[in-house]
Amino acid sequence: MDFSGKHILVTGASRGIGKATAIEFAKKGGIVGLNYRSNQKEAEKTLSELPGKGHQLFQKDIGKKENCQELINEFVGSHGQLDVLVNNAGISIFHEIDKVDFDHWTHAWEETFKTNLFAAANMSYWAAQAMMKTGGGRIVNVSSRGAFRGEPTKPAYGASKAALNAMTQSLAKKLAPHHIYLGVVAPGFTETEMAAKTLTPMERGNLLRESPFQRMAQPKEVAHAILFLASEGAEYSSGTIIDVNGASYLRS
Ligand SMILES: NC(=O)c1ccc[n+]([C@@H]2O[C@H](COP(=O)([O-])OP(=O)(O)OC[C@H]3O[C@@H](n4cnc5c(N)ncnc54)[C@H](OP(=O)(O)O)[C@@H]3O)[C@@H](O)[C@H]2O)c1
Repeated sequence: MDFSGKHILVTGASRGIGKATAIEFAKKGGIVGLNYRSNQKEAEKTLSELPGKGHQLFQKDIGKKENCQELINEFVGSHGQLDVLVNNAGISIFHEIDKVDFDHWTHAWEETFKTNLFAAANMSYWAAQAMMKTGGGRIVNVSSRGAFRGEPTKPAYGASKAALNAMTQSLAKKLAPHHIYLGVVAPGFTETEMAAKTLTPMERGNLLRESPFQRMAQPKEVAHAILFLASEGAEYSSGTIIDVNGASYLRS
């Protein structure tokens, strides 16, 4: 895969899967914009690890809808064009229905949807406007195995990712005539801060047993699938969902 001269924007790229994705694109010649919410130190560290030139940081909370338009405008303003958008930024909040009060419940739903679904929808809107002007592009959305198998401790998370999958498929149909191709990568547990924060040692042990690989994914393995969907030659895969979960949850 060759991304030489391609301009790529990755949301949530300060750490975890977004960071690995930015690094892999840069290794293959891509010029990468790294969006993050607030963790400037990590973002600067990630930027310093990217090979090649022209990469740039974009600090924006994309959970705020006005920031999505600003982010795309700023990116296109300095890069000239947007070839690939990766909607990777995501959050997960515990909110077990038999344990939390109603305020916690509604807060979890609202915050999760703001980042995991509405931000991806708003980013896709402005990205599509920019891509239609330049003859096309690619959008890859990072979903989760949780969209399919149920998330009893974080129902908003599972629902937001199922909605993200459905949105991607709708837009894949709508935007193909504009030469804009979309795909989803749905990871299982991946060795990042999100996974570290949300797992007790017992849950971690159970989880490792779910996969015949007896391990979690590495962020780089998820990045590999993202790069495939963003690559030339993957056009006819538009609308697809690639599972990266070590055969822990197999859909028919
Ligand atoms: N890790 C897993 O096990 C796993 C499994 C399945 C799916 N996923 C999905 O993969 C994606 C990445 O997960 P991860 O584990 O790499 O996450 P992570 O390590 O927690 O990193 C999250 C990234 O998203 C950014 N972010 C969060 N909210 C944002 C907002 N409102 N605006 C801009 N940036 C925001 C963070 O920025 P700051 O650093 O500035 O806070 C950070 O760069 C998510 O969509 C997640 O749902 C992860």
